[in-house]
Amino acid sequence: MSDPLYHTLFAPIASSYLTSMMRASVAITPQKTASNQREYMTLALHLAAQGELTCAPNPQVGCVIVRQGHIVGQGYHHRAGEPHAEVHALQEAQHMAEGADVYVTLEPCSHQGRTPPCVDALIKARVARVIIPFADPHPRVSGQGIAKLKQAGIDVITGVLATEAAWQNRLFLTAQLDNKPYIIAKWAMTTAGELTHPSRRWISNEASRQHAHLWRQRVDAVMVGKGTVLSDNPALTNRAAGLSTLQRRHPLRLIISRSNVIPALCGDKPCQLSHPGLPGETWWISPGTHTEPLSQPHQPGITQWQLPSSGQLLLLPTLFSFLATQHVASVLVEGGPQVLAQCFEAGLVDEAHIYIDAIHAALPKSHEYFWHPLAYFQKRDEVHLDDNIWLQYAKSSDLASRLLEKTENN
Ligand SMILES: NC(=O)c1ccc[n+]([C@@H]2O[C@H](COP(=O)([O-])OP(=O)(O)OC[C@H]3O[C@@H](n4cnc5c(N)ncnc54)[C@H](OP(=O)(O)O)[C@@H]3O)[C@@H](O)[C@H]2O)c1
Repeated sequence: MSDPLYHTLFAPIASSYLTSMMRASVAITPQKTASNQREYMTLALHLAAQGELTCAPNPQVGCVIVRQGHIVGQGYHHRAGEPHAEVHALQEAQHMAEGADVYVTLEPCSHQGRTPPCVDALIKARVARVIIPFADPHPRVSGQGIAKLKQAGIDVITGVLATEAAWQNRLFLTAQLDNKPYIIAKWAMTTAGELTHPSRRWISNEASRQHAHLWRQRVDAVMVGKGTVLSDNPALTNRAAGLSTLQRRHPLRLIISRSNVIPALCGDKPCQLSHPGLPGETWWISPGTHTEPLSQPHQPGITQWQLPSSGQLLLLPTLFSFLATQHVASVLVEGGPQVLAQCFEAGLVDEAHIYIDAIHAALPKSHEYFWHPLAYFQKRDEVHLDDNIWLQYAKSSDLASRLLEKTENN
């Protein structure tokens, strides 16, 4: 159950309270109170987070099985195609699952995917109750898991820690509900507000670049405009340290330009994105009239799309709707300034990540200093990375209440 990668990267955030709860058979007050339910669901969410870097494109899911006040089984979803959290927890609980309460951070699946339906395993184990935050909005689940459990005489309780569970899987859940990818705008800036600096190649430092690479691990795609390609010659691959070949996920690289001509050179160097050995896929997207990729791309190895557009520029809402049809559930927009500004102007940004070079000056107090659109966002986190600071802002979201409403209407 314990993932060394998780412990290296996230161990500091694990509270000792949760760590002590993670030991199997820890006695907890046996009353089935609402506060007990929140505690067990907190533990299940904590377990789910262990799959954060490895389970995409699947959601993070954790499971805790409790019988007579004792934790008898725990598990989390490690990797797409591998057993779900409930299966790991049931394996640990064995016959002790009978009559037990099962806390899962998302509705158990009812369909045969790459693994068998989890509801069948729960029914077979004769559990008494299943406690979840909300139904899984994925069309292949969407309340059908709850219905099947109820038909088998198993109680299902919903609404436990819905806000926390919605935040944990916001990339996956937003894409399911809104038919658009979850958009994270990311940039590095100086405390003076500059995104580029004439005398320095990097505003970020090594620690902040590693941090940003770990976000590439979590998302389905990264996107930049041609301006960034020409000036920075990026590879846009995931070079996060500490990931095995099996774990490493290279996001789809999206480049937007008014032109369909892919430059051979960036400055005086060959364009890295055209390198035939680059792992993962690159799409060059420009305005046009097609909804199919060009059959003869200008650059072998790069897929070219010319999406219908009303003018010279691609309309970003149209682009993101198109990406949703291609099963892209999350995009990390890595610049540059023109592309980022359009995403904010169109109200498409769900979350912002700012790496700020804070060594030269005190961090300004107001987030409005950074960029006016962030006035509508809430600060969620701050991590110090040597002389850089990572700031995470998210748009106020009604995701949890929408998921609960959908759960009731299923
Ligand atoms: N600090 C940071 O985090 C950061 C991040 C990235 C880049 N940068 C810096 O930013 C500078 C580049 O700035 P930039 O604003 O030119 O970069 P950019 O936003 O990456 O690229 C702008 C270009 O993207 C294309 N584009 C933008 N919107 C489009 C749309 N709706 N439809 C079609 N094409 C579209 C256009 O290319 P065409 O001209 O080909 O049509 C446009 O000229 C560089 O100095 C780079 O180092 C900084």
